[in-house]
Amino acid sequence: TCAGQLKGKTVVITAGPTQERIDPVRYFTNHSSGKMGYAIAEAARLQGAKVVLISGPTQIEPPEGVEVIHVVSAKEMFEACMRYYEKADIVIKSAAVADYRPKDTFEQKRKKQPGTWFIEMERTTDILQTLGNQKVDQILVGFAAESEHVEEYAMKKLHSKNLDLIIANNILQEGAGFKGDTNIVTTFTKDGDKKEYPVLAKREVAQFIISDIITYMERHHR
Ligand code: PMT
Repeated sequence: TCAGQLKGKTVVITAGPTQERIDPVRYFTNHSSGKMGYAIAEAARLQGAKVVLISGPTQIEPPEGVEVIHVVSAKEMFEACMRYYEKADIVIKSAAVADYRPKDTFEQKRKKQPGTWFIEMERTTDILQTLGNQKVDQILVGFAAESEHVEEYAMKKLHSKNLDLIIANNILQEGAGFKGDTNIVTTFTKDGDKKEYPVLAKREVAQFIISDIITYMERHHR
């Protein structure tokens, strides 16, 4: 792809983990570093897009020229996504959003007590599903982090969440998934295209993802 192919487009990208609070000192989270999503933000920016990066807590620097919205919980990420959805041409959901959060949270630090502590968990809202249900003409791109039956589960998510593309990664594969600087992905489009990539730096993976999205949009005259 040559530069500037997303000029005039607004791209909303989610990245990183969410943190689900238990009390002022404890929370549930996951291993996402934000690297994959930040790399996608940079690649979209390089193609001239206006980029909004909705990010959970990470330790890394956002790319230059990108508007960053910091969020903590799945609920905050949901609200930020909804706020930017209408103006978005493309939404790419690389964040690792918590599927569950503690049902009860404590204002004060919960003291140690004898015996077992049972924490009841409730479901968070599936952001991608909600965006899919409310889609007008946005290009909606999801991720699938799977540890088995990768293609089958990815295709299920592509169709049930009303996506245009899905990026599957097998998080148990060496060199793929959370934290590291590389990933191994396969992209699937709604039209039935499948592209399998080798192990690559997340920056390169990001460029291929953006270029697959551009190809898809050209085919759909968007
Ligand atoms: O951040 P890194 O360390 O670089 O790691 C990158 C990554 C492994 C996090 C990334 O490549 C990745 O796979 N991201 C998606 C992680 C995930 O939560 O996948 P999932 O299969 O559980 O969810 C499917 C899709 O639904 C995802 O696009 C997710 O953003 C979205 N989702 C999930 C739950 C929820 N409540 N709302 C959502 O929108």
